Amino acid sequence: MRQADNQLIRVLGIETSCDETAASVVASSASAHGEILSNVVLSQIEEHAAFGGVVPEIAARAHVEALDGIVEAALDDAKVTLADMDAVAVTAGPGLVGGLIVGLMTAKAIAAASGKPLLTINHLEGHALTARLTNGTAFPYLLLLVSGGHTQIVLVRGVGDYQRWATTIDDALGEAFDKTAKILGLPHPGGPSVERAAASGDLQRFAFPRPMKGAQQPDFSFSGLKTAVRQAATAIAPLRDQDVADICASFQEAVAETLKERVGRALARFRNEFDSCAHPALVVAGGVAANKRVRATLEALCESHGFQFIAPPGKLCTDNAAMIAWAGIERLQAGLEPENPMAFAPRSRWPLDSVSTPVVGAGRRGAKA
Ligand code: KG4
Ligand code: ZN
Repeated sequence: MRQADNQLIRVLGIETSCDETAASVVASSASAHGEILSNVVLSQIEEHAAFGGVVPEIAARAHVEALDGIVEAALDDAKVTLADMDAVAVTAGPGLVGGLIVGLMTAKAIAAASGKPLLTINHLEGHALTARLTNGTAFPYLLLLVSGGHTQIVLVRGVGDYQRWATTIDDALGEAFDKTAKILGLPHPGGPSVERAAASGDLQRFAFPRPMKGAQQPDFSFSGLKTAVRQAATAIAPLRDQDVADICASFQEAVAETLKERVGRALARFRNEFDSCAHPALVVAGGVAANKRVRATLEALCESHGFQFIAPPGKLCTDNAAMIAWAGIERLQAGLEPENPMAFAPRSRWPLDSVSTPVVGAGRRGAKA
């Protein structure tokens, strides 16, 4: 699609790949940043809390019940109707297949009924491009995605042009936080619980491992760290509150130190390969990016490497539909519309970068992004 400078593009985005039911309207003109006209996110945390994690069947059913109302609310909040939209963008993968089906079928129905083009978006691309919506970040840059389902470092060269530089060979970082919380009897979601408990803990009491330290590739591994937490907890059980706090603080410290070493390698590689890039940047996304210790560590790391540190606001770092609508706008502007979106089937696995060699054991869980 060719866009005149003053022509406004408005896209409705829909996101249902995990446990958030979300819809959003984002607008953009060729000469300006995007503008979020509405961003409605319904979290299912309460539905899943009793189970200590996301239950796919419950998630899919909750999306069915909520999605129509959420789409309506997003259009109302933006004070627009479907007729004002230039396209409908929907997460088509990766994620939990039940939720993806609900979102994709709904988006197909809306697109068919309104005669608007349908854009099938990779959820990871949504995370990857958010910094361009919020900060107008120029290509190329590095993305660190740390969520419940993914831990990746991605080189973002352009719209649809990604190269994965690192991934986890076992658990995702958010998953490690969630499992640590479960071992310690802290409530779901584990990340915020562990961070809260860590605030009053001694970060030096337990010498947890720094997994993959020294490895050439900046890949990650967190399952050994989780096992070390389990062993420490078992060894001193029954746990007092102070023991739990100390384990959380020591775990968080191991995570921060690991990120510093692993991400540091990727920053050095970027410097090497893009020595003419005047303003190198590291963008973070995913729920774990909300962690203050993680943020502060990455911020200091970026400063020491001469990188700009870009952390979009929390509600745009975690799952939302504004990032999907924005990815749709970027694709429209780049002329990258899918060929036959009405025939597109949801993809529970959908790497951003299809050329990187898979890492053994990577993305075992792979459902969430
Ligand atoms: O990106 P996100 O909202 O959802 C997906 O995984 O798609 O990330 C959720 C993950 C969970 O594992 C949660 O425990 C973790 O992010 N998380 C945190 C914090 N807040 C959320 N981890 C560490 N510290 C936090 N403050
Ligand atoms: Zn995500």
